[in-house]
Amino acid sequence: MVKKVAILTNGGDAPGLNAVIRAIVKTARTYGVEAYGYIEGYKGLLNNNYVKLDLQGNASGLLNKGGTIIGTSNSTNVFNYKVVNDDGSVEYKDLSDICVKNIQEAGFDCLFTLGGDGTQKSSRDFSLKGVNCIGVPKTIDNDVAHTDMTFGYNTAVSVAVEALDRLHTTAEAHHRIMVLETMGRYAGWLALESAIAGGADVALIPEIPYDINKVVDKINERRARGKEFSIVVTSEGAMPKDGTITVKKTLNDGSGLDNIRLGGVGEKLAGQLEELTGMVARNTTLGYVQRGGSPSAFDRVLSTKYGCKAMELAMAGIFNVLVTYKNGAMSYISLEEVVGNNKKIGAASGNTKESNIRKVPMDDDLIKVARNLGICLGD
Ligand code: F6P
Repeated sequence: MVKKVAILTNGGDAPGLNAVIRAIVKTARTYGVEAYGYIEGYKGLLNNNYVKLDLQGNASGLLNKGGTIIGTSNSTNVFNYKVVNDDGSVEYKDLSDICVKNIQEAGFDCLFTLGGDGTQKSSRDFSLKGVNCIGVPKTIDNDVAHTDMTFGYNTAVSVAVEALDRLHTTAEAHHRIMVLETMGRYAGWLALESAIAGGADVALIPEIPYDINKVVDKINERRARGKEFSIVVTSEGAMPKDGTITVKKTLNDGSGLDNIRLGGVGEKLAGQLEELTGMVARNTTLGYVQRGGSPSAFDRVLSTKYGCKAMELAMAGIFNVLVTYKNGAMSYISLEEVVGNNKKIGAASGNTKESNIRKVPMDDDLIKVARNLGICLGD
């Protein structure tokens, strides 16, 4: 019998987190279940820091609210936790048993883990330790395996498209090349879909290592047609053929998805394109505006569907699964299926035996559409 559940939001935030929380808490109320939230993701679980979620109080008015009312943490891996000893030395320890004890003592019958790949990996590991976990796939990167769309992604695309509309007018006015660097980590969904929706001329994604000369050819071909400006969208994870991904910073010991921060490829590209075309080029790195603020109408509905389904699964006693959105319907799949393969994460992995990270397949409609439109994909 499920009587008491806890929610945690972990990893980089995404629009729709609060809408999922709201949907879980409301559905819980319908079933007579109490809902709680751990503060700052797995960090709260480790520190036993949680609050009751009250629809008359702290959990009211959440549908359109950005961020997460219970906070998040994106470098806390309790299975490999950074501990600084008294003598200043650093050790990485598995502190997950403390978390399991905290859940048991609080009497939570189910833990909802709202997060991306790293979060779900820990959720799978807690499941293996006997905790009843249900994951909900959150990320603006849209790179979680077995689900067609994560919540937050649609809003992030809309933000990038608004930026592209604005970059278009200034690019045209100044006869410039405008580069827009989007987030997305090792998957190109966000960059590619934004490029199509925003009418870009070039879209560079991690799945297709680019040849800078092909980009130059595209810009020159446009100039020959009298188009004195070009719009280039690059995913932060895009990399040149025979080159490497641009890493901005490595945190902790660099292990795990959340400890490598990508960024900087847009600036590099703008410099190179200026040199190779003789045109003026500028870069805009969109950054955190992509994941801040209010969720789109689509994401509000998707998040609500995710939250309701998660609570329904708990009531049905179906645990250790990720809620999915597949072919237009809500469903679920085992957490093992989602993250079990993720031994190797990085630019070269994805949709492979070593990693389930969902990358853009080469036969995806977005790729076909881009090619049909003449958008240069750098190859
Ligand atoms: O996974 C979501 C995301 O926003 C990525 O697109 C981006 O690479 C990363 O998080 C940034 O993480 P941080 O919050 O650590 O800077």
